[in-house]
Amino acid sequence: MKQRKLGFSELSLTTIGLGTWAIGGGDWRWGWGPQDEQDSIATIQRSLDLGINWIDTAAAYGLGRSEEIVGRAIKGQRDQVIVATKCGLVAQPDGWGVTGRLKAASVRKELEDSLRRLQVEQIDLYQVHWPDPDSDIEEGWSVIAEAVQQGKVRYAGVSNFNIRQIQRAQAIHPVASLQPPYSMINREVEKDLLAYCAANQIGVVAYSPMQSGILTDKFTRQWVSSLAEKDWRRNDPDFTGKKLEANLRLVDGLRQIAARHGRSVGQLAIAWVLRRPEVTSAIVGARNPRQIEETASAGDWELSGEETAEIEKLL
Ligand SMILES: NC(=O)c1ccc[n+]([C@@H]2O[C@H](COP(=O)([O-])OP(=O)(O)OC[C@H]3O[C@@H](n4cnc5c(N)ncnc54)[C@H](OP(=O)(O)O)[C@@H]3O)[C@@H](O)[C@H]2O)c1
Repeated sequence: MKQRKLGFSELSLTTIGLGTWAIGGGDWRWGWGPQDEQDSIATIQRSLDLGINWIDTAAAYGLGRSEEIVGRAIKGQRDQVIVATKCGLVAQPDGWGVTGRLKAASVRKELEDSLRRLQVEQIDLYQVHWPDPDSDIEEGWSVIAEAVQQGKVRYAGVSNFNIRQIQRAQAIHPVASLQPPYSMINREVEKDLLAYCAANQIGVVAYSPMQSGILTDKFTRQWVSSLAEKDWRRNDPDFTGKKLEANLRLVDGLRQIAARHGRSVGQLAIAWVLRRPEVTSAIVGARNPRQIEETASAGDWELSGEETAEIEKLL
């Protein structure tokens, strides 16, 4: 699989990274419903077999569960995988929701917990999950800068930040990467963030390229109504009401373009995100080996100008 350099860093990422949010399981506010642990481990191992060289997780995913599973799955293969995780969203006392926290003591504790759950001595890319609360960005970021000096973190990155927030972090310590949402349905990042990152040698690792399962072959009204009770998508605006109707129409159009190439809608959605040279890698979620087997090959698919123009018309 092709690789691209992450901004100014020495990390070379495959154009697809494995996203492990869903793998964290269902029992929390942002869970995806029941998830079989053996499937999760097999998915991570399969993705490495397929040539994917990096994994994105977060302390928040499954309230620690995702990191534990990643730690177990990569044991003995640490040298072959680039591990990225995030801090700044901590469990609420009810053991269900999460809340933004960037106070120094909290970030320090989160980092130690992540190193333990992942069973590693250094995190390759440590990211602030959300700029929340905004007023504590500098405090949390300074702790990560300190962790780089101590060797516990290799590179520091941010997620869901705007340009002003990135600049505030840059004033303290270099920002190696931005992790923003980017898909055919959410193109916000195209306005100014992609250009800013390219100009500042900040890598871009794009999340939810299939809009969390919408931009896939299986996306139908029936499938949406079968989502598990504790799947966060049941109440998401993209999966309900007028947006659902528009998304169903979009996927119908995409199916025809993908089919002409003997490809899937998911592969088309990922290749579309990767058409932008400012994007280092697409973080692709999967819940079983079959899903990543299907999507991994999108990492090498280069869309032609004709195809992107056709997609642009649909959008
Ligand atoms: N920084 C942040 O704030 C943030 C936010 C969101 C995501 N992320 C990161 O980005 C990663 C990817 O985002 P994402 O998980 O939201 O979305 P995604 O990659 O757009 O979609 C992944 C989901 O689509 C479904 N899927 C995957 N492969 C499929 C296939 N071949 N056929 C049909 N369905 C398939 C799976 O769920 P079902 O089978 O249940 O449909 C899977 O969980 C996350 O895991 C996480 O690491 C970060």
